[in-house]
Amino acid sequence: MRVVRTVLPQPARARLRRLMRLRRLVLRPRWGNLRRRRPFSEHFGNDRGTPVDRVYIERFLAAHAADVRGRALEVGDAGYTRRFGASAVTDSDIVDIDPGNEAATIVADLAQPGSLPVDRFDCFLLIQTLQYVADVPAALRNAWRSLRPGGVLLVCVPGISRLDPDPGPDHDLHRFTPAGLAATLRATLPGAGQRIVGYGNLLAAVAFLYGIAAEELRAQELAAYDPHYPVLAAARVVKPTGTEGRAPA
Ligand SMILES: C[S@@+](CC[C@H](N)C(=O)[O-])C[C@H]1O[C@@H](n2cnc3c(N)ncnc32)[C@H](O)[C@@H]1O
Repeated sequence: MRVVRTVLPQPARARLRRLMRLRRLVLRPRWGNLRRRRPFSEHFGNDRGTPVDRVYIERFLAAHAADVRGRALEVGDAGYTRRFGASAVTDSDIVDIDPGNEAATIVADLAQPGSLPVDRFDCFLLIQTLQYVADVPAALRNAWRSLRPGGVLLVCVPGISRLDPDPGPDHDLHRFTPAGLAATLRATLPGAGQRIVGYGNLLAAVAFLYGIAAEELRAQELAAYDPHYPVLAAARVVKPTGTEGRAPA
């Protein structure tokens, strides 16, 4: 606007101001019941239906279901291991930092080097966890070392998302973009083959922030991807063969 003030003569400035006022009137947002400071759900829409990010996580895992096989590791619970691996999974482990998680077969801090068995897993489902880990590269290196050569790490991380009310905003440390996740993976695991994808768009992101469930959007509204508004970033990382027992290059 400073350029407009210094370059344009006064009558042109007045015309421009009128045009902008008209544009605001014609294109004014109709807030309806969105003019609010609290979301419709405090739990990502879980109490209204399926949270928007879960639809994207499930799309990503469905696209890579063939990777969920053999010895599988998942954080927190084995829900996706069972659903997407089914009978292709021969051994299922669950890792959690929380010793109170009775389902956990490995209680470990992912960011603690060597806290996972080395060269063990064919697949590691690292879903919606890295945002709680202060040292993300350390967790990725540890996850990578836990894979057998040829094993696959499936990572999902939040993009545009509210902070987690449980365990609380002080424990929810990071948000990611697909490009940021790619850069972190490249820097941390330079020898690994990786494929990065993003999911979401403006409407899906706004719905997710408000706690509106996926069922309240149309299928096309959910499916469209706009790289400027990623709700979820996901990566498939393959540990090359011939890297037994080795740390990332
Ligand atoms: C939101 S849950 C995600 C896992 C779940 N399978 C899913 O589908 O989203 C996050 C889990 O990560 C665990 N967690 C957080 N920080 C961790 C860390 N540094 N090491 C291991 N687990 C951690 C939490 O205790 C919790 O069980």
